[in-house]
Amino acid sequence: MNPFTICGTIIHAPACGEIEIIENGLIVVDEAGGIAGVHSPEVESYESVKQTAVAANSLIELAEGQYLLPGLIDLHVHAPQWPQAGNALHLPLYTWLQEYTFPLEAKYTDLAFAEKVYASLVDTLIANGTTTTVYFATVHLEATKLLADICLAKGQRALVGKVAMDNPNECPDYYRDSSAQQGLADTRALIEYVRTMPGNEQETVLPVITPRFIPSCTDEMLTGLGELAAEYHCHVQTHCSESDWAHNYVLNRHGKRDTDSLNDFKLLTNKTILAHSCFINKNDMATIKQQRSGIAHCPLSNAYFADAVFPARRALDLGLDVGLGTDVAGGATPSLLQNCHAAVTASRYLEGGVDKSLPQLERGVSAGRIDFKEAFWMATTGGGKALDLNIGLLKKGYAFDALVLDTRVANSNLVVWNELDKGEDVLQKIIYNASRQNIRKVWVQGKLIGGVDQQA
Ligand code: GUN
Ligand code: FE
Repeated sequence: MNPFTICGTIIHAPACGEIEIIENGLIVVDEAGGIAGVHSPEVESYESVKQTAVAANSLIELAEGQYLLPGLIDLHVHAPQWPQAGNALHLPLYTWLQEYTFPLEAKYTDLAFAEKVYASLVDTLIANGTTTTVYFATVHLEATKLLADICLAKGQRALVGKVAMDNPNECPDYYRDSSAQQGLADTRALIEYVRTMPGNEQETVLPVITPRFIPSCTDEMLTGLGELAAEYHCHVQTHCSESDWAHNYVLNRHGKRDTDSLNDFKLLTNKTILAHSCFINKNDMATIKQQRSGIAHCPLSNAYFADAVFPARRALDLGLDVGLGTDVAGGATPSLLQNCHAAVTASRYLEGGVDKSLPQLERGVSAGRIDFKEAFWMATTGGGKALDLNIGLLKKGYAFDALVLDTRVANSNLVVWNELDKGEDVLQKIIYNASRQNIRKVWVQGKLIGGVDQQA
């Protein structure tokens, strides 16, 4: 790749709740697609760095009203569920799984269908500014390899997991691993496949060990997956304490909470992503922090399936690595920005309360709210920290995963008034009203892979 330099207004979130805005900042991207330096106009090196780029004909200048943001990091997507996005959300989780989701996921023995769905989803996520996605695929090894191939070909950073689910009491005959041994062998095969894919030398596609959730796995499977995580040091993802039903199931079967059970199976590592985690308590949070695992907060999905609001404020205050997930298709939208909006809204309901028959001070959870800055941190920096990858910030040493957000697009719901909107106001408006037509360019590892300009 040819190195280049970008000049424009940079917006990112170096610390939770803090936004840094660098006007006319310069970002130097090296031949490996990494950020070699970030220069603000006050620093001495600024002019010479800019002139070097001009001389090399490698300076990209953003226009008025355009902003350079870190690419969005979606920590939780079910790729095979994309065809049912926006459908079947009238059902509770258990019925939704059995009646809609397992029958749909079972179709991915058909590789032509898998190719069509997965290509559509990856394109859609990139168009929405998602530069990294953590994917659950299905139980099928071949279709899961195909998802990894598609992410690599389209340039999206991705963590791809073959779903492990072998418990005959909870998984239908037509859709599960035939045995724990088979599920473990296929998980190992997927890890080896992704790690040796030609063209994946920079490891923009990574394998992830994926027990669906404790109910769908036997103890033999969970034990084996914990051993694989230790052997390969690769990422792990699962659903943790998502709903009353799922949480109580684990209490009944193991006599302990999801967090403790997963920890005992050695599935909580610094590379683990726990989806939802709505029912985690103080002790669970302490364990998750100690193990340096991350949480995928999925606010829209939780409204349908979780029976509760994830305590984002509490988790962030304790210093947990919390990022955001769309949970397609428990969440109906592929837009992580819409989930930023939903995370703020959910936290306001949590704090304000929902039952007006109670006195005001008893209605909600005090200090439960987060704001747009914390939501943006989760969608970027927090996601990167949860994954233990150098992504989510526009900072030296990080990968150049970024997008150009244009606030001056015609026929957009996003309208910025120069006379009124300054600094962080613009970011707040972006979070609430930007959509895919505002996303002009998308880069992963320095490579331009999408955005409206690419389609023009
Ligand atoms: N728990 C187990 N499987 C799933 C799933 O596909 N989606 C959600 N939201 N929760 C789950
Ligand atoms: Fe999920």
